[in-house]
This record gives sequence, C-alpha cells and structure tokens, in this order.
Amino acid sequence: MFETLSQQPPDKIIELMKLYADDPRAEKIDLGVGVYKNAEGVTPVMRAIKAAEKRLWEEQTTKSYVGLTGDPAFNDAMIDLVLGDALSRPHVASAATPGGTGAVRQAFELARMANPGLRVFVSDPTWPNHLSILKHLGIETVPYRYFDDATCTVDSEGMLADLERARPGDIVLLHGCCHNPTGANPGAAAWRDIVSVLRTTGATPMIDLAYQGFGDGLAADAGPTRLIASSLPETLIAVSCSKNFGVYRERTGALMAAGQDTDRVAAVQDNLAYLNRQNYSFPPDHGARAVTMVLTDPELRADWEAELEEMRTGMLHLREALAAELRARAGSDRFAFLAEHRGMFSRLGATPEQVQRLREDHGVYMVGDSRMNIAGLNEATVPILAEAIVRAGV
Ligand code: LMR
Repeated sequence: MFETLSQQPPDKIIELMKLYADDPRAEKIDLGVGVYKNAEGVTPVMRAIKAAEKRLWEEQTTKSYVGLTGDPAFNDAMIDLVLGDALSRPHVASAATPGGTGAVRQAFELARMANPGLRVFVSDPTWPNHLSILKHLGIETVPYRYFDDATCTVDSEGMLADLERARPGDIVLLHGCCHNPTGANPGAAAWRDIVSVLRTTGATPMIDLAYQGFGDGLAADAGPTRLIASSLPETLIAVSCSKNFGVYRERTGALMAAGQDTDRVAAVQDNLAYLNRQNYSFPPDHGARAVTMVLTDPELRADWEAELEEMRTGMLHLREALAAELRARAGSDRFAFLAEHRGMFSRLGATPEQVQRLREDHGVYMVGDSRMNIAGLNEATVPILAEAIVRAGV
C-alpha cells in the first residue's frame, strides 16, 4: 500500500535547520527556527526547570498514567498564568497537550467537531504550520490582512475589514502576543476593535499563545487574551510552554476553552478528554510536572520569572542594537520597526532573492519570507548582520 504515498513538501522551518547544520562555515549565523539562544548560542535548560527536574527525580515514585487531560494541578497553574483573574475556574475547560502544536491541533479538531463546515480566519502571514495542519484536516482557511509591508506594522484597518466577513461558527485565529512570523502586534486600541468585530460577527476567537513573557512581560503579554476571554461568550486558547519554560522537546502545552456558560464549559471539558484519548490517550507529563512545580513553588517561580525577564530584555536590547547599527549603515530610519516589534521574530522585508543572498554570500540563515529569530544574535553578530543586510541590498 505504501506505493500510493508520495513525498511531502518539506516544512520550510525544519528544512532550514538542516541546511544550517550542513553549512561548514564557522561564521554562519542561525536566525531560523524559533528557539531561544543565549549570547553563547546555547538554548539553556532554565534554572528553575533544572531544579524542579532534580526534585522530581528524587521525589517521584511512579510513572503510572495520570488522567486524559493531564495533571489537574498543571491545568490550574496554567489557567492562572494565562488568564489571571479574568475568569473564574468553572468558566475554563483545560487539557494538557503535547506542546503548543498539540494544543493547536486539538483546538482545530474540537472546532470541527462543533461545526464541520467551519472556516478558520488566519492572519496573512501566519505560522506556516497553522496552514499545514488546517490543510491536513481539510478545514477551509480564509486569510485576513495583517502586515503592512511598507511600514512593517499591523494593517489594523485591513485586518478589521477582513474580519467583518466572519460568521458565527467560524474561528478567528489570533496570535496572543509576539506575532509569528512578523513580530508586529496590534496595539491596545486595535485589540479593543478586534473584540468589537468578533462580538458583532459572532465568530469564535482562537488565540495561539506561544511566547508569553517574551514581549512586554508575563502579564502584559496575556492582556489581549484576558480581554478577549472575559469579553466574549467563547474563546479557545492554545498555550505553549516550549519557549517561556525552555522545555521544547518535553512537549508541554495546554488547550483551554473559556466560556460564559459553565454547563457548556463542562461539556467541552469532556470533549477535550475524548479528543486526547482518540489522538494519544495521555498527554506527556514530565515537562508539565516540572512547569507546575515552577509555577507553584514561590522560590522557583521567582527565579523562573527573573530568568525569563533576562531573556526578554536581552532580546529587546538586541533589537535596539540592530536597529541602531542599520540606522548608521543604511543612513535611514527604515529599519526602526525592528526595535518596535516584540518577541523572537521580526520580518525584515527582504525579497526571497535577498534572503538567498544573505544565506549563500554571508552565511545568514533566516526563513524564506525574511523572518529572523532575534535570539539567534549576540553583541558580536549584530554589526555583522547589519552589514550583510545592507550589502545584500535589502
Ligand atoms: C518556529 O516558528 O520556528 C517555532 O514555533 C518552531 C516550530 O515548530 O516551527
């Protein structure tokens, strides 16, 4: 039967990881996959996670199954981290998932169970895997305008106009903070306008929250999610712990469904358990347990927040340094947006040819749409990148 299978088109981000690994040049710069790196180019195990894992190793007496939606303490701690006081616990269903991707996948499946004819509105551009999963599930996508190429900011007017076309039963997929791939995010007024459009259309928001703490801080980055979930009847939230806890390979995430009607929320909770059972039975536990310990132990939590804040401010500093270098070398302010963007990524606005030139002539690896992972830089490589960008004619 395997003869009926053909090769799959490569995932652009994963393909770039391999291209970079195969490049023998010592001076190569990796701005590809969205993985945080420190100044030494290392993706560290965060201190608090290391301490929690040590304690787990010492204290854990069994690896027996937990429950279909994971450890209740993990769900409680994650709801508190993401939603704060925005909604009380009976208003939120939650299940642990294998990473943020698992949460995204389960959210789409849940939405399709609720409405087989749904459409999912996606920002243009969005994380390529959103589109890939939706295509795999046979769900129709409707792109909405998002990024203004000329200013490298959010095209709020275009976005709101396109979202007005959504209907009840549709999903509107939003990036809660640190938009991937552009780095451009709606301001407070635009978020309020988005809530109004969602309310008028009756479409259901789905928020992908993969970078809480990487933008303007833990509470600020959750602000739009809290606003939406507390203002509208129903909200899906796909949360990743990969980046802000640095537990990438442990596959740690959660899918939450917030709703004003607690009976419906209870029914959703059942459906989350059902969906987990169909797809993988029990979600991974190790990363979730370490995250729970970090979130609930005051000392570990303080240390985690401090390290996360160091990471966030480090990326902000790199953004400012790159914008300043480019200002000096290009003799213009046209790259000032780099310091305004938030999170790991910025879309530089280079053509595919310029991206290729950056890779081939300068050993600079960024995704084909010119998405750069700012955390791939350090103080020494910022001027080298700025020079390469100018030389590549961007
Ligand atoms: C990215 O966008 O680079 C990350 O979210 C990693 C991934 O899985 O694509």
